[in-house]
Amino acid sequence: MVREGGLKADVRRSIHARRERERVEPSACRVQTAAELDEISAMDHSRDLAPLVARAPKELFHPQRVDDRLKFLSADVHIEHYSCTADNYQARNAHPRGGNHAMLDGMKTLKLGVIGTGSVVREIYEHLYFRSAYSRLISVEAICDTSDDALEAFGTAWRIPVERRFRDYQTMFEAVELDAVAVNTPDSLHAEPTVAALEAGLDVVLPKPTADTVRDVHRIIETADRTKRFLGVDFHKREDPAVRAARARVAAGAFGTLQSASLHMLDRLLVADPNHTPRFFSSPDFASTNSPVSFLTSHMADAFMVITGRRPVEVRAIGYRQKLPSLAPIAVEGYDLVDTSVLFEGGVSCHIVTGWALPNTADCLTVQSGRFIFSDGMLDLWDNHYGYREITASGIENRNVQFMTFERDGMVTGYGMECPGKIIGNILKHRNGELSADELATLRSPFALGLYTTLVCECAHASLATGTHQENGAVIGRTIDARALLSEQIGAAADRYFT
Ligand SMILES: NC(=O)c1ccc[n+]([C@@H]2O[C@H](COP(=O)([O-])OP(=O)(O)OC[C@H]3O[C@@H](n4cnc5c(N)ncnc54)[C@H](O)[C@@H]3O)[C@@H](O)[C@H]2O)c1
Repeated sequence: MVREGGLKADVRRSIHARRERERVEPSACRVQTAAELDEISAMDHSRDLAPLVARAPKELFHPQRVDDRLKFLSADVHIEHYSCTADNYQARNAHPRGGNHAMLDGMKTLKLGVIGTGSVVREIYEHLYFRSAYSRLISVEAICDTSDDALEAFGTAWRIPVERRFRDYQTMFEAVELDAVAVNTPDSLHAEPTVAALEAGLDVVLPKPTADTVRDVHRIIETADRTKRFLGVDFHKREDPAVRAARARVAAGAFGTLQSASLHMLDRLLVADPNHTPRFFSSPDFASTNSPVSFLTSHMADAFMVITGRRPVEVRAIGYRQKLPSLAPIAVEGYDLVDTSVLFEGGVSCHIVTGWALPNTADCLTVQSGRFIFSDGMLDLWDNHYGYREITASGIENRNVQFMTFERDGMVTGYGMECPGKIIGNILKHRNGELSADELATLRSPFALGLYTTLVCECAHASLATGTHQENGAVIGRTIDARALLSEQIGAAADRYFT
């Protein structure tokens, strides 16, 4: 079948005729007939489908829901993307449309391979790829997962052609032309695909934390430096307006000298409970192979360091294993709560208390707060409320709408999109040589690449691993010297991070 600009000629002609008849601008012409819809849906390339899929709920792609799809699409989707000629089809790809961020105008599309299509992709990144202001910068060219179920779920939902679904990332690198990869594997499996991608000349975007050990983070940083590829880590709290404002006010000296801080981040039990339906994480052993430290302390430690610019000196953790081991029928051998005290440079003390065993009746999925005490003032962040509360028959729910807001048109906004979206924008800028030396130095600093955040987490884990166990399930860790641990792990290279 010969297609021009992605559409069969007869369908294209019918769309043009309708435009003429209805005297509408291309931008006002919407999908209206089953033939138009089927033709668009049949196009076999994810880039062509992305703008369409971006706006349609997944369930509408069920074969028996053509009518619903049409209803949705005739209300919300313009067809100009699909009815263009071969020439302006090229132009569209060179200058993607949609979204309203001026900084994105004129940028090309990044050919992205996605490695790991588990929970974080389902909960956060599929919105980034297909339903955000940044989606027009992204073309998901191929996906890779060692799990057939994960490949099938994402591949079917987002219509990734079967021949572009891989179980091995090296094969994907060889078979598909890519600019960059998103490595969404578990923390302990970030390093191998990241290093392999950088070595293959690809840029990389990672979810936090960069890796679970400083040895792996150092290896990743060294490889990015050597290959001169771009690496970005999505610590989404960095784009939280509260963190950005706090950072600016602290830098301006608004409160005097920082003395002490305490931060809380507590998830509902359903996050860690493999018995909960639906399960929060793809893998049933997530909570036992991870911890509140890697999952949550990493966010808060990073936010603290972004706000204050201070590096960790000593770390001591106290952990509690009281609720998770009692879960049934699947018990979790892990911590409910961990209180990590960190001594930062300048004698600043900081308690970071994180856990994932709050009763499911908690009024938000994640209860969080942060208090910073200075010589001349105090700063409170989050205060457990996000400014949006729903009361319905199922209860009271505070939602962090700043993180992700599901808009009426199906798009997703919020700092959960902005943080990784900006990384995608920076990859494109880097590829075009548009980042200055100063910008690059900041984006490549060990702070930006999460080295000190992993250091806090690894020290906390080491503290617990060598701690004393109480009869009631509490574990009292010993104090770990952060710089000494770094030296043990990476030798003399540690000097580079503590000059
Ligand atoms: N930004 C956030 O707030 C946030 C939230 C959740 C998770 N995360 C991070 O996202 C990452 C993934 O977490 P998740 O919850 O999606 O885990 P998950 O276990 O649900 O998914 C990981 C996926 O990676 C796949 N995988 C494992 N090894 C692979 C390999 N070698 N090649 C290809 N695929 C492979 C697994 O089969 C699985 O489908 C972790 O680093 C986690 O800490 C971040």
